[in-house]
Amino acid sequence: MRFKDRVVLITGAGRGIGKVTAQRFAQEGAKVAICDINEEFARTTCEEINKQGGQAVYQVGDITKTEDVQKIVTNIINAFGTIHILVNNAGVVKDLLLKKMTEEDWDLVVDTCLKGAFLCSKYVSPYMVSQNYGKIINISSRAHLGNPGQANYSSAKAGIIGLTRALAKELGRYSINVNAVAPGLTETEMLRAHPKYEMIKERAAKETPLPRIGYPEDVANAIMFFASDEASYITGDVLHVTGGRFG
Ligand SMILES: NC(=O)c1ccc[n+]([C@@H]2O[C@H](COP(=O)([O-])OP(=O)(O)OC[C@H]3O[C@@H](n4cnc5c(N)ncnc54)[C@H](O)[C@@H]3O)[C@@H](O)[C@H]2O)c1
Repeated sequence: MRFKDRVVLITGAGRGIGKVTAQRFAQEGAKVAICDINEEFARTTCEEINKQGGQAVYQVGDITKTEDVQKIVTNIINAFGTIHILVNNAGVVKDLLLKKMTEEDWDLVVDTCLKGAFLCSKYVSPYMVSQNYGKIINISSRAHLGNPGQANYSSAKAGIIGLTRALAKELGRYSINVNAVAPGLTETEMLRAHPKYEMIKERAAKETPLPRIGYPEDVANAIMFFASDEASYITGDVLHVTGGRFG
């Protein structure tokens, strides 16, 4: 029960890495606030956690919109009193070569993966400052190293690391740790929806020193480490959960 009575807000927790992370936090005693743009995903995750004896609430909203983020944060404060841990997890991909990538493709991915983390951090951190305690964990990706067909996603995921380091320096004086987790290929709906999923999975197993694809649980373990008091003297750092694959 490492997180007994801690309040955790996880964006994009309706499915995938966010959902598994929400379930794991609940199993370790946290009060979990699930946020997702998809009402059905958010409600289902919340109901499953509460049925299993955990404590969860959900909020539906788009993290790229200031008014949604303000509403989400206010409602969670009303439900649970404060927020101790923020996991900026929601993300999308829209892979296209540069010549085919439109401004809309760029904005969708950069706004969701980067601006959303900025807005959530902006509106949650005042509560962390006032209690002189907080953990912000941003989800980057191995793609921050640069992938063809992912100019939007690679830029956003590199940007998340810049955001992490800037906020670590700004907020450290309030005992707020800000770190990033950079997963490699992880078996979630996002990946399974890819038209070349089987091929990607096979290649990953061949090219990864630990020869398999990652699971959401692998990423959740890293997130929970950063959220725990065991990581209290670590900030501005990036933990890669890639099975050793960097290229
Ligand atoms: N799966 C991978 O291989 C992989 C690898 C590296 C990094 N990541 C990152 O991990 C995070 C989670 O990825 P996943 O694979 O679980 O994805 P996923 O698509 O399975 O889940 C993402 C969730 O975010 C929600 N979401 C999307 N846009 C939103 C918005 N504007 N506001 C609120 N919620 C929104 C979706 O509805 C969905 O429930 C993302 O940031 C992703 O970039 C994933």
